[in-house]
Amino acid sequence: MKTANYSILNFKESIFATMTKMAQKNAAINLSQGFPDFDGPSWLMDLVTEAMAQGHNQYAPTHGVPELRRTLAQLYKNIYGLEFDPVDEITITNGATEAIFCTIMALVNPQDEVIVLEPFYDSYVATLNLAGAKIVPVTLYRNEFRWHVDELAKAFSDKTKLVILNNPHNPTGKVFTREELEAIVGLAEQFDAYLLSDEVYEFLTFDGAKHLPTATISKALERTITISSAGKTFGVTGWKIGWTLARGQISHHIRMVHQFNTFSVCTPMQWGVNQALQRLDEYLPTFRSLYQEKRDFFCKGLTLANYSPIIPQGTYFTVAPIGHLTGLHDVGHCMELIERKKVAAIPPSVFYLKSREGQEYIRFCFAKKNETLEKALQNLKSRL
Ligand SMILES: Cc1ncc(COP(=O)(O)O)c(C=O)c1O
Repeated sequence: MKTANYSILNFKESIFATMTKMAQKNAAINLSQGFPDFDGPSWLMDLVTEAMAQGHNQYAPTHGVPELRRTLAQLYKNIYGLEFDPVDEITITNGATEAIFCTIMALVNPQDEVIVLEPFYDSYVATLNLAGAKIVPVTLYRNEFRWHVDELAKAFSDKTKLVILNNPHNPTGKVFTREELEAIVGLAEQFDAYLLSDEVYEFLTFDGAKHLPTATISKALERTITISSAGKTFGVTGWKIGWTLARGQISHHIRMVHQFNTFSVCTPMQWGVNQALQRLDEYLPTFRSLYQEKRDFFCKGLTLANYSPIIPQGTYFTVAPIGHLTGLHDVGHCMELIERKKVAAIPPSVFYLKSREGQEYIRFCFAKKNETLEKALQNLKSRL
């Protein structure tokens, strides 16, 4: 048989699938994959059932249900003062993952340079490889996960087409400061690069940390593709309703990929998300305090289990250094945890291309029922 597409030949199963399989095989508590093990509020489910009963069951328009796009336009204006035209500038995608795929495919030519901050969300690098991009990694050094200013500046060149930013940041839980965003936006402007800003955890910030969309910084709006998703905000990752917000010409390019990729996105889910977003104001305080409690409970427990977690300012992940606990690297320690303590975590070294820092810590997801977290902590504390 002839060879498959060269770009995918080095692809491996995602670390999330591998760890989940290992967790199942070892009957371990799964704190690896980033999704809640409990349902979102029941009124959410009713919204989708109603949408189906009302007959919203055929293909949606390729750019997304117009009502949902109008709701998003209003929301971004009210919350962040960002103005997007729902007709030309907002596109509904199959989760943030499809938004990332369409954006990269729409903008990046083979050999274009793309700056990726590591540790990164794994779909960025996979999609960049499909596009034939030259990936330029810039490390966020722990424990504060800041870049070295010189390293960031050196990464930019006239060939830089795109910069990928994720804020709040998975896996580290970092929320970027205005100064940091201004620095990276300034460089993107200087070298005329696009900015892909993945903000799926925009509403999941703690201790009053404020999320600043990249598009609100300086003149970044002109070159930024803002990506978000309902999955994390409403605790329904399986709904896969995401979106891109970008100026008209950029959105047009993204839509050209989207129409031949998925064409359109699950109709009743879009109607459900549209209704859910109307209730965002009343929903968010409960949502935030639920996750803040889980963060505090889990991080405190991890400390008692002899880890020193880096307290996240956002997302539902926490990372914890392992050097004082084991002679093993992250992958070995995760295997040891699954087999001996029956807890699955994620080894972050797979989210790096350059630095070896990922070998020195592991990532836990605390978007889990209290009893799941309690059980996991008991296991971590025990000498099995
Ligand atoms: C940083 C980041 N971006 C994108 C996604 C994917 O979002 P979606 O499920 O909406 O495709 C995730 C999911 O874990 C994520 O953590």
